[in-house]
Amino acid sequence: MPSPKIIIAIDVNNQPDAIRLAEKFDPKLCRLKIGLELYTAEGPAILEVLQKLGFEIFLDLKFHDIPNTVARVCAVAASMGVWMVNVHALGGRAMMSAAREAISKSNHQPLLTAVTILTSHSQEDLAAVGITGNLEECVLQYAENARQAGCDGIVCSALEAGKLRKKLGDDFILVTPGIRPEGGNTNDQKRVVSPVVAIESGANYLVIGRPVTGADDPARALLNIHESIKKA
Ligand code: C5P
Repeated sequence: MPSPKIIIAIDVNNQPDAIRLAEKFDPKLCRLKIGLELYTAEGPAILEVLQKLGFEIFLDLKFHDIPNTVARVCAVAASMGVWMVNVHALGGRAMMSAAREAISKSNHQPLLTAVTILTSHSQEDLAAVGITGNLEECVLQYAENARQAGCDGIVCSALEAGKLRKKLGDDFILVTPGIRPEGGNTNDQKRVVSPVVAIESGANYLVIGRPVTGADDPARALLNIHESIKKA
């Protein structure tokens, strides 16, 4: 069985709902992403509960602090046996290098990815916080910083995956949210890409929430996406 490319976003705020949702899926077909909402509500115990169901976990807490603090929290996350953790590339190279070093010293070593620029930010939003460079060039620069700092990959829009793949080579992991199957509801996501196009653009892992978790039959929805990717 190949490593599943799909990461299901468990965007709920309590353990019973998280378990009910997770139990609809086969751990051989997906990993789970735990974000700030569920982690803040339930703490580290939720990781263990979902790991016991057989799932590998992407702990999506987007660490961004001074290098020492981020290194220490990455070591803690690593000790919790998660599959992937992430930081903000905006935290800078020293912070990402410190995260890399802390994880490399851990017994269990999760993949380390960096969020480039949040897809909710526009060019105007960046200018308003004093970042005057072109948004796309900033994404490329942050991705390059992440690679030089030793990150395993980045979280980015699938719309940028093609360019990033060319610039960063084949060994760098691209994790892409904002995925919508053809013809599906886009919800509040504006810049969406289908699973097939994301994979063809070079994405390694697709983060998918509502198109699967909000489907009448989530397991079927996940299988349908697998089928479409296989044909890609
Ligand atoms: O339901 P949906 O498929 O839109 O969920 C996408 C998941 O990916 C959510 O957990 C969302 O917070 C996350 N995400 C995103 N865009 C980013 C980074 C993370 O949608 N740029």
